Amino acid sequence: MSEITIALTKGRILKETLPLLAAVGISPSEDIASSRKLLFDTNREDVRLLVLRGVDVPTYVQFGAADLGISGKDTLLEHGGDGLYEPLDLGIARCKLMTAGLKGRPAKTGRIRVATKYVNVARRFYAEKSQQADFIKLYGAMELAPVLALADEIVDVVDTGNTLKANGLEPRETIVGNISSRVIVNKAAMKTKYRKIKPLIRQLGKIVAERGA
Ligand code: PRP
Repeated sequence: MSEITIALTKGRILKETLPLLAAVGISPSEDIASSRKLLFDTNREDVRLLVLRGVDVPTYVQFGAADLGISGKDTLLEHGGDGLYEPLDLGIARCKLMTAGLKGRPAKTGRIRVATKYVNVARRFYAEKSQQADFIKLYGAMELAPVLALADEIVDVVDTGNTLKANGLEPRETIVGNISSRVIVNKAAMKTKYRKIKPLIRQLGKIVAERGA
């Protein structure tokens, strides 16, 4: 019976997470990338892994369906962080959360329309700078929204900037500059499973510090 369930974010973050887990002695018992399964045993009898869409990771951890998770800071800011501790920055999948619009087009004044999957973060950002805005929730391909006049601006994560460029957009303002993946822990599990969870976080922290050195 697994005592610790760790929720992983599939995609880009997963690719960078698996080597970190391997470095602390946790490996899935089959190849996650080529499997359709969502729940994986590992070489450690007391640890199992879930592979989820990023947006669902904080929810699984918040409600204790998973004890720990690996989640992008962007996703955590949007979720709000209820019921979660965030004890460690893994320093992987680094990017920025930015606004962007059509290249060469000056930012529109007055009320604007913003397409994003980060509606909560975006609402706070535009409110703080007293910019009136309406929000359109999208789940991907946000870069298309200004091109097809669905929105004046988007709020999305930017890494290399290639996706913006390829779609005729340019970055405008940085909302959060230091997005990266974080370890999150269910608050109750941190107490009840402290003896399992604490050493794992300590080991991961050591690996991250060594890599950063
Ligand atoms: C993110 C984001 C952009 C892209 C930015 O998508 O939504 O599309 O990466 O990266 P770049 O600046 O290096 O081009 P991701 O591939 O993570 O998939 P997602 O849409 O599922 O988040």
